[in-house]
Amino acid sequence: MSKKSSDGGIVDPRDIAAEDIHWDQDITYGGYLSLDKLLDCQKLRTDAHDEMMFMIIHQASELWMKLCLHEIKAAMTEVEHDNLDGTFKMLSRVSRIQSQLRLSWSVLSTMTPSDYRGFRDELGQSSGFQSFQYREIEYSLGNKNAELIEVHRKKPQRYERLKAALYAPSFYDLCLQLLARRGFDIPEKYLQRDWSQPYVASDSVEAAWAKVYSSTKENWDLYELAEKLVDLEYEFQMWRFSHMKTVERIIGYSRGTGGTSGVLFLKKALDLQFFPELWSVRTRLEIS
Ligand code: HEM
Repeated sequence: MSKKSSDGGIVDPRDIAAEDIHWDQDITYGGYLSLDKLLDCQKLRTDAHDEMMFMIIHQASELWMKLCLHEIKAAMTEVEHDNLDGTFKMLSRVSRIQSQLRLSWSVLSTMTPSDYRGFRDELGQSSGFQSFQYREIEYSLGNKNAELIEVHRKKPQRYERLKAALYAPSFYDLCLQLLARRGFDIPEKYLQRDWSQPYVASDSVEAAWAKVYSSTKENWDLYELAEKLVDLEYEFQMWRFSHMKTVERIIGYSRGTGGTSGVLFLKKALDLQFFPELWSVRTRLEIS
């Protein structure tokens, strides 16, 4: 509906005469964002209509993963310096990115098995399984599985970067060190160990978190940290689950292009936990 101006005339919504638009810019929008490069990255291998969507969803997910890593790494430094306020902001952002990523499955699931078959053969052996950023996120959060690094051996820079994340303490390891600094009883073997080995849940660590949850006023920031981590893991799991269901919907139980058993492989990942005691402590609190 057209609006009336102050003198009663009709305002043309397309009228930009009164705007002070910068028609020439020193820094342009496209230049700042390197849009020429970014929008030239969709090198399709077929003329199947759905391949564009498939490629863009993967590329957009990798960009979001880049931001997740940026936030996670900075949040880890904050935890090391006992600055939890900074950590909370970054962890919340990572959780929101995860829920944003989860929405991509609703777009992707508009693709039927027949649509996918239109370009699947052209994907060769490429698979999200080879996403080094995804693996770095998993390692940084604490899902250490040394074998998976091997798929990156031919790319030395990526291999070294992943190796560094594998052999460094994870986010959760740093949180346990923080608990110890705050006087909680965390066994020595959780404070100094071979970080490349998978984390094994412990009763003592669960007991420490139980203390945090039982005296929230005294431990408010640790309590908030715990809940931020649960938020993050919840969103991460929802991403894994939606991925698995979308894959089942599109390729059923056939093998993945990366060589795994496909859905069966993805289902196993649903049992992985980054912060196991933060989940088990809930049962403990219920029965205590
Ligand atoms: C038609 C859509 C998709 C299908 C059929 C599919 C299928 C699969 C399968 C079967 C695997 C297991 C590894 C393999 O053998 O290939 C896998 C892993 C993976 N996919 Fe997808 N995928 C799809 C979309 C996506 C998207 C949009 C992303 C976003 C980046 C993604 C990221 C991943 C990651 C990170 C893994 C490794 C998971 C892990 O190691 O736990 N996938 N995918």
